[in-house]
Amino acid sequence: MTPNTHAFDHWIRTRFVEINSCLEEIYWQQEDKANVEGVGENEKKQLESEGTELITALLAEGNTDEGFDNAFDLLGNVGLFMAACRRHEITEPSREKTSPLTQASALAMHIGASIGVTPRFATAHLTTHNKSVNGLYKRFTDLPCEKLFVDYNTKSILAYKRASDALLKIQPLGISHAITADLLRVAKVALQDVIESNSALFEKLDADEFFYQVRPYYKPYRVGSQVYRGANAGDFAGINVIDMLLGLCFANEPSYSQMLVDKFLYMMPEDQSILRDCMRMTSIMDDFLAASKYKDQSWYQDNLKLFLAVCESHGETAIQHHNQLVSKYIAVPSTSMAQQHMSKITASGPPLHALLDALEKLRDRRAAAQRTDMRTRYDDIKLLKTTLK
Ligand code: HEM
Repeated sequence: MTPNTHAFDHWIRTRFVEINSCLEEIYWQQEDKANVEGVGENEKKQLESEGTELITALLAEGNTDEGFDNAFDLLGNVGLFMAACRRHEITEPSREKTSPLTQASALAMHIGASIGVTPRFATAHLTTHNKSVNGLYKRFTDLPCEKLFVDYNTKSILAYKRASDALLKIQPLGISHAITADLLRVAKVALQDVIESNSALFEKLDADEFFYQVRPYYKPYRVGSQVYRGANAGDFAGINVIDMLLGLCFANEPSYSQMLVDKFLYMMPEDQSILRDCMRMTSIMDDFLAASKYKDQSWYQDNLKLFLAVCESHGETAIQHHNQLVSKYIAVPSTSMAQQHMSKITASGPPLHALLDALEKLRDRRAAAQRTDMRTRYDDIKLLKTTLK
């Protein structure tokens, strides 16, 4: 780390958190908690000027080629600053044609383009790639609700990754290999961990606190002239690796592949490469469907039972995400929100009903639900079940 990078990192971990937390307290005390206009003006000015000063020094320093990890980390810090400016409406993408944070934009674009990721903060910056210093890792505020959200996101993402790693290892072994059973068991346990982590989040996280004090930091913002959608916990390859290897979702289906195309640059480069490889693999479900002539073999019976249990757990995580998390923390609070703020609530930008519809379709694909308007694996799973003894 250069002295300038270190100074900025220190600021992000201290003053930045202090100012954001102070502004959150001011907003929270208003009758309309979603209002950010005309309040906390001094704090907002401080935030912008202190951040910009540190970033200007970094921009002048140029690309010092400190390696991928340092560059990615610095991009995260610039991104946290830009996302906070967006949250406090120091910038507002519909008001501007280009980001007024000229220096921050330049630095973010320089780094993002050079390491092959989107030039904004991504989920990995706050979750899987967030260095803890003496027990403290980067966050926007010191609010317990934000820590809770980040911690459980990290837990779930890592559990999904454990499941996807296990499924990827089945590829070179094949469905009839004795060790495939072990790998399917690992995937099942990992998905169970996702379910437990999401349940704990659902129980512990207060809906209003999340909606008014955490979610606004995940809004879209401009970097240079372009608006980049908000980060979400799904910006890692693992979940889609599971979707496609199990055979529940299809890389050649337009709406699914559109989602993959849109999320590539929000993932770490290593995740991008895993996902690309996975898009060319055959699914375990198709392998079982093609192997029904072996249905009397014990490997077929044992491994198929485990495979179907993994599919069921994956479906359960998706049902839980949609019916619990999205419903409690996004859909329900939105209905009571003052109309003037309605256009700004999702991380990706589309109207809420369109977003909910897309998420519902994903849930039903993952759960292999019976639907007539799109392809799911409902019939194939039914067929596979008839081959079980
Ligand atoms: C309070 C908790 C959560 C809420 C309210 C929530 C809500 C949402 C919303 C609204 C989206 C759509 C993206 C957008 O806004 O543009 C989304 C996407 C996604 N979220 Fe969550 N989420 C939560 C926690 C989690 C957790 C813990 C995970 C586990 C890793 C997760 C996994 C995903 C995935 C994978 C996507 C991408 C779409 C998909 O493939 O399903 N979310 N989430």
